[in-house]
Amino acid sequence: MAEVVLDKVNKLYENGFHAVHDLSIDIADGEFIVLVGPSGCGKSTALRMIAGLEDISTGTLSIDDRVVNTLSSRERDIAMVFQSYALYPHMSVADNIAYGLKIRRMEKSEIQARVKRAADMLELGPLLDRKPKQLSGGQRQRVAMGRAIVREPKVFLMDEPLSNLDAKLRVQMRAEIGQVQRDLNVTTIYVTHDQTEAMTMGDRVALMKAGVLQQLGAPQHLYDNPDNIFVAGFIGSPPMNMALATVDRASRGVTVSMGGAEVTVPETVTSARPALASYAGRQVAIGLRSEDMEDASLARDGGNRATLSTTVSLTEALGSEIVVHFPVDAPRVVTEDTKALEEDAGTEDIPTTTAGNTWVASFSPRSRVRPGDTVQIALDAERLHYFDPDTGLAIRD
Ligand SMILES: Nc1ncnc2c1ncn2[C@@H]1O[C@H](COP(=O)(O)OP(=O)(O)O)[C@@H](O)[C@H]1O
Ligand SMILES: [Mg+2]
Repeated sequence: MAEVVLDKVNKLYENGFHAVHDLSIDIADGEFIVLVGPSGCGKSTALRMIAGLEDISTGTLSIDDRVVNTLSSRERDIAMVFQSYALYPHMSVADNIAYGLKIRRMEKSEIQARVKRAADMLELGPLLDRKPKQLSGGQRQRVAMGRAIVREPKVFLMDEPLSNLDAKLRVQMRAEIGQVQRDLNVTTIYVTHDQTEAMTMGDRVALMKAGVLQQLGAPQHLYDNPDNIFVAGFIGSPPMNMALATVDRASRGVTVSMGGAEVTVPETVTSARPALASYAGRQVAIGLRSEDMEDASLARDGGNRATLSTTVSLTEALGSEIVVHFPVDAPRVVTEDTKALEEDAGTEDIPTTTAGNTWVASFSPRSRVRPGDTVQIALDAERLHYFDPDTGLAIRD
C-alpha cells in the first residue's frame, strides 16, 4: 500500500545541469505510472531520486503522506529493477531471488515461501537450480523481477527493464509485467523511452521533455488530446501528421485551409475550442492522425469530410491497412519541439525549412491506390488538432 507524491521536485547536478524541473505527480496506491520521453530527458534521474539513489535538490517526495527526502533507499521500502539485471553469476536462480531477503536476515522458512510464490507467479519453478548463464534473456529478466517481488516492497521502480530483449520478447514481457503488477497491486513507476510501452502498460503516462513534464494522463487521453506539439508528435506511431494552415472566418463558420483543401471546422469543434476563432487571418499548426484519413472513393459520405487532392508517393500494403505516403502543399511545422522529435526518431537530416511536407495516411485495404496515382483523400474534420505555431500549445479556450 503506497501513495507516492512528488511535489515540485528538482534535480541540479553538481556541474550545474538542471536535469529535472519542478516535477509534480500524485501517484495513487496500486497505480502503474509510466515515465516516458526521449533519451536524456531526466527519466532515470527522477526515478533515482524516488529510489533514494540520488539526492533531491529541492521539492518533496512523500510516500504515504510521509516526507522521505532524507531516508535511505532501504528505509523507503522500494524495490528497483534495472535494464542490466545484475544477477550473481555463481548463484542459482533461487539464491539470486532470495539474496536480498538473506542479507536482511529473514527467517529461512519465510524466505522459502516467498521465493516459491514469486517463482510460481513468474513460471520460474523448474529453473530455480540453474545458474544465470543457463537462462535466456527473458528468463533472466524474470529472475530480476522475482528478486524485486520477494521483497514485498511498497513501490516498484523499473528503469527500461526490457530494453535488452528482442522485439518479440519485449511484447511478451510487457504483458507479463502488467499481469504481475495487477496481481500484486503494488504502486509501480516504470521508465521507458518507448511510446508503445507507455501506451500499452501505463494506467497513466507522464511524458517528459528536457526535464519538464509535458502532460500526465491516461494513454488514450494523451493520444486524443495532446496538450502540445511535442506530445502530439511523440505519442502514436506513425507520428501525427502536421502542417501550417490558415484560419479564416466565413459565413458558414470557421474554416481552415491547407494544401488546397478547405475544411469547415465543425460546430462541435469550434464550441470545444472557442479560442480557435480568434486565430482568423493567422496561421495555426494543424495535426491529423493517419487513421483519420481515408481514400475518398471508399469513404462513407459523412457530413464533416473535406478532401485533399494529391499524388501518392509510396504505399505499404500491410494486409489490415494500406499505409499511403503523399506530399501536402502546406508548410511543414518546424519548431524546437519538432526538432526534438526528429532527433529522438533518429532522423539523419533534420529538416530546418518548412518545404517538402509529407504525410502518411492509413487506408482501408480495399483501396487500390498505387504510387503515382492521383488520389482524393477524405479528412475527418472532427479529428483535426490545432496548435499555436509559436508556443506549440493546443488551441482550446
Ligand atoms: N551525474 C550527472 N551529472 C551531470 N549531469 C548528469 C548526471 N547524470 C545525468 N546527467 C544528465 O542529466 C540528463 C538526464 O539524464 P537521465 O536522467 O539519465 O535521462 P534519461 O533517463 O531520460 O535518458 C542528461 O542530459 C544527462 O546527461
Ligand atoms: Mg535513463
